[in-house]
Amino acid sequence: MSPKNAKGPVDLEGTAATEAQIAVHWREEGYFYPPAKFIGQANASDPGIFDRFSEKNYPECFNEYADLLSWDQYWHTTLDTSNAPFWKWFVGGKLNASYNCVDRHLAKDRNKPAIIWVPEPEDADTQVITYQELYMRINEFAALLNGFTDLRTGDVATFHMPMVPELPVAMLACARLGIIHSQVFGGFSGAACGGRIADSKSRVLITMDGYYRNGELVDHKVKADEAVARALEEGVVVEKVLVFRRRPGEYASQSPMVPGRDFFVDELMADYRGQIVEPVSMPAEAPLFIMYSSGTTGRPKGCQHSTGGYLAYVTGTSKYYQDIHPEDTYWCAADIGWITGHSYIVYGPLSLGTTSVMYEGLPTYPDAGRPWRIAERLGVTTFHTAPTTIRMLRKLGPDEPAKYNYHFKHMTTVGEPIEPDVWRWYHDVVGKGDAVIVDTWWQTENGGFLGSTLPALHPMKPGSCGPAVIGIFPEILDENGDKVDAGSGIAGNICIRNPWPGIFQTIWGDPDRFVKTYYEKYNKDPKSTDWRDWPYFANDGAMQAGDGYYRILGRVDDVINVSGHRLGTKELESACLMVEEVAEAAAVPVVDQVRGHAVEMYISLKPGVEASPAIQNKVSQMIETEIGKIARPKNVWIVSDMPKTRSGKIMRRVIAGISNFTDVGDITTLANPDVVNDIRHFVQSEKVAHGDEPRELTEEELKAVKSFGHAE
Ligand code: WT7
Repeated sequence: MSPKNAKGPVDLEGTAATEAQIAVHWREEGYFYPPAKFIGQANASDPGIFDRFSEKNYPECFNEYADLLSWDQYWHTTLDTSNAPFWKWFVGGKLNASYNCVDRHLAKDRNKPAIIWVPEPEDADTQVITYQELYMRINEFAALLNGFTDLRTGDVATFHMPMVPELPVAMLACARLGIIHSQVFGGFSGAACGGRIADSKSRVLITMDGYYRNGELVDHKVKADEAVARALEEGVVVEKVLVFRRRPGEYASQSPMVPGRDFFVDELMADYRGQIVEPVSMPAEAPLFIMYSSGTTGRPKGCQHSTGGYLAYVTGTSKYYQDIHPEDTYWCAADIGWITGHSYIVYGPLSLGTTSVMYEGLPTYPDAGRPWRIAERLGVTTFHTAPTTIRMLRKLGPDEPAKYNYHFKHMTTVGEPIEPDVWRWYHDVVGKGDAVIVDTWWQTENGGFLGSTLPALHPMKPGSCGPAVIGIFPEILDENGDKVDAGSGIAGNICIRNPWPGIFQTIWGDPDRFVKTYYEKYNKDPKSTDWRDWPYFANDGAMQAGDGYYRILGRVDDVINVSGHRLGTKELESACLMVEEVAEAAAVPVVDQVRGHAVEMYISLKPGVEASPAIQNKVSQMIETEIGKIARPKNVWIVSDMPKTRSGKIMRRVIAGISNFTDVGDITTLANPDVVNDIRHFVQSEKVAHGDEPRELTEEELKAVKSFGHAE
């Protein structure tokens, strides 16, 4: 195993970095080893698995994942590449996803909990939904879809649902009938939902009147009216809006029900009680759902996922990487409105017949001890969340986990790079030093994990996702398509050389954009039907260490170019988090006469810490020590909160707009749009007071500022 701190801070002035390469200055971290107790019970503890999934066994190795499912008819071709890069998996096979997630568990586990739903109000009852109960609810709702709507196999239904059990019920009811579901994150605006309805051309919207968030019963139905209006502007008529009621019989919304368009599901349901609907046997390559990518800008991309390939991939990765056993109590605290929730709350865990926990509300409501009380109460064994939540829980309740008697064997972090410092808190405090952690790198487009340690077989390394998962063969390429070597300390564009079953099939309605965004850059021959000619360009920057572990730096456009040196925003932010008082950090470029761009840092502090020039100095000093003089920030702004997307990603482009006195762009999908004005007022008046208002930007400078943080 490679030693700790193999590479210390680098003197940037002496480093020659081309535009194609991002020098990486993070320090190497030491390994952490999985506890023996974990290894003893793990689903994958035999290293023979690496051989089974090695390149010589590709693509047939993935039959092992498909064999975890129940098929109505077996496939004749594992991978069909004839219409590259529109890959087809398990061709000839037929199955039903709803049957696989529910029906097949009934014989053995009829009355075992499938979903345990925790409502946000802490005095409300937890709902335990057994596999039998879930089966009944899915069938009844499928009967309603059949009888009351004219949705048929192959049609699309849009959902705009909060985190309630009715959401997986509706998803699996659609899956039962071969109706393609398109769940839009409940926190998105009505307009955002309407745009997605129009893009997918759905005629039915399934929503709820209200839900609890941060102690309030939020009016959600109003968004349905906005969504329908927006869809109409874009030429799509929504014929029916099916409204679940958060509290059946009571209505939580101010918005009137539109006669002939809006219907309460609990009222309609009277006609469908107890009805059973046979699952429709679907071809493996039939679309199961659409998930719009969380792109912070640009037209959202409807990622179309398949039935057989997707379900096989999430089931296999849930088994080996989430280490899900049927007897586990597994809690993924993501929202089902994101791909993480689709794959690792609903489809993967239920396909494996485990108990999946769902929580309605904010993890910090009413206080930062809530997740740990839920974990204690339900005996959660396996916990899955994102760095932004971990940072938030650490900020608000650094000592809370120790107060509760829960015990995780396995934890996941997903969604963005995790700073080593935050990783260690997750490991030591949340995991009590006793749980393995997988840092899983993947994307909405991918269906399931691409990078992660195999928890019983690889050591963990804070800040690195680990090697590629089994059956995935990445390479890091520079702008010319040349390979960047492992251990070189140089980053490039991470690509996956081979197709895998979970890869999305296309962008809904826009196959050209699919090819252009993900394949054109490194395609070797547009006519080729050999998968080797079609590396998948993930649009992420990454570096591979000498030990083969990948460190993901985030979307390739999230870099700051200072005098020709490309600095990853994450490494700058990670350095800031080494300052004890800092809770969150965001790095942005600011146009600079001399250096092209300079770095500006925005930080928020841990509770109880007063803002002071001393902290600003510490941050600057830390960046200089960790990365180099060139990265020394022009300003360090201490703010109370960062503008964030609903999924918790810091909107660096908004902050960059403030720092450069340019337009901050669309902020309507932010979780906290109000902070934007506060920060703008504070930062810009300080700048003006110090004569630091930039001159009029040239067109090129403006373009650079605007493209920052704008992933395709
Ligand atoms: C982007 C995908 C993964 C499903 C939820 C987010 C970043 C994701 C990691 C990780 C470093 C990560 C990448 C990726 N990302 N996981 N473990 N380490 N970066 O899905 O919204 O499609 O975002 O999130 O930049 O491209 P998404």
